[in-house]
Amino acid sequence: MFTPRQLFQKHLAPTSPAPLAIEITHASGVYMYGPKGERYLDLISGIGVSALGHQHPKITEAIHQQIDRHLHLMVYGEIIQSIQVQLAEALVATGDASIDSVYFVNSGAEATEGAMKLAKRYTGRFEFISCINAYHGSTQGALSLMGNEWLKEAYRPLLPGIRHIRFGEESDLEWINEKTAALFIESVQGEAGVRSAPHSYWKALRQRCTEVGCLLIVDEIQSGFGRTGTFWAYQGNGIVPDVVLTAKGMGGGMPLGAFMAPKAIMQCLSEFPILGHLTTYGGHPAACAAALATIQVLKNDTLVEHVNAKSQYFIQQLQHPGIKEIRAKGLMMAVEFEQFSTLKKYIDAAIEKGLLTDWFLFCDNSMRIAPPLTISYSEIDEACSIINQLT
Ligand SMILES: Cc1ncc(COP(=O)(O)O)c(C=O)c1O
Repeated sequence: MFTPRQLFQKHLAPTSPAPLAIEITHASGVYMYGPKGERYLDLISGIGVSALGHQHPKITEAIHQQIDRHLHLMVYGEIIQSIQVQLAEALVATGDASIDSVYFVNSGAEATEGAMKLAKRYTGRFEFISCINAYHGSTQGALSLMGNEWLKEAYRPLLPGIRHIRFGEESDLEWINEKTAALFIESVQGEAGVRSAPHSYWKALRQRCTEVGCLLIVDEIQSGFGRTGTFWAYQGNGIVPDVVLTAKGMGGGMPLGAFMAPKAIMQCLSEFPILGHLTTYGGHPAACAAALATIQVLKNDTLVEHVNAKSQYFIQQLQHPGIKEIRAKGLMMAVEFEQFSTLKKYIDAAIEKGLLTDWFLFCDNSMRIAPPLTISYSEIDEACSIINQLT
C-alpha cells in the first residue's frame, strides 16, 4: 500500500525536479489543511484562481445544483444550456458593452489559442506582437507568444512571425504595423513580477492598434475577476480592447476559460470554413455554475471595492528589513527581495510556518502575493507577521 506521497512520486508526471509536494486533504476559506492537521494560509490562491477562497458555499451550492440537473450534453456551441447562456450574459455585463460575444474554453492557454486563430481569420494576417516576459500559456501557440527564451528555446521551431516589445515602452509601439494580426498584452504583467503601465501608454497602444487595423487582445487571465480593484484590469487602464482573455479566477476553482470579443469579430470563426474552432468541454455546465456564482458573490459582497484598501493594508503591514520594493495592482502583488537564494529561503521557511507563497516565473527575486479577495484584515495580519519574522 503506497502513501499518497509515494503515489505522487511514482505516477504523477513531474513539471520540475523540486515540486512543492505539500499534501493537502481539504481546504476552506484562505486555509488549506494537511493530513496531520497542518494548516497553510494560502497567499497565492492556486496562482490567482480561488478569488473567493476555497469551498465558498455559494460556489459549492451552485455546482451541486448543476450536477443534479445535467453534466456535459454536447460539444460547445450546439445546444442551448441555461447555465452557459446565463453566464455569458453576466460576463458581458461586467465589461464594455461592445464586447458582447463569449467563446467558452477550458483554460487560459486555450483562450490564448482561440484568440490567435480569431485574429488570423479576422485580419487575414499571421504576425503577432507580444511583450518581453509575457506569459500567455504553455501550449505551442501560447508558447510562441511567450516573452522568455529560457522557457521556450527547447521547443523550437515555434510559430513564425512573432516579435516581442518592451511592456510599457511607447517607443516600441512602432513595431506594430499593417502586417500585425494582433497585439497580445497582459493588462498587468503577472509572471514578469507584477508590472503595470500608465494610462498614456495604454492610450497610445489603443491608438496604434486602431491605426494599423490589428486587434488589441488583453490577457486578463491573472488580472481579471476583480483582482486589481476593477472587475477587469483594462477598465483601470482606461481603454477598451478588441478581445479579452479570461480563465483562472473566472471558474471559482473549476477549469474554465473564455475569449470575448464583439460579435462582428467573433462571427468569423463560424464561417468559411464553418466549425473553425472547436472544443468538446469548453463551458462545462458545472464550471459555468461556479463562474456565475463567482460573479454574483463578487457583485453582492462588494468584494472588488475592498481590494485596494486590502492591498494598501498589506503594504503597510509588510515590514521585513529585506524588502527592496513592493509592486502592487490591487491584490496582485510582488514583494521584491535582494535575490532568488534569499527569497527561496524565506518561501521555504514560510511554508514551515504555515504560509504558502511563491515567486514568479520570470522574476525570481519577488514573492507572489495574490490571496483570495475574501481575505480578512486579521488574516492579512497573520500573513504579514509570518513574513516579517522570516530569517
Ligand atoms: C497571464 C496568463 N495568461 C495565460 C495563462 C495560462 O493559463 P492556463 O494555465 O489556464 O493555461 C496564465 C497562467 O498562469 C497566465 O498567468
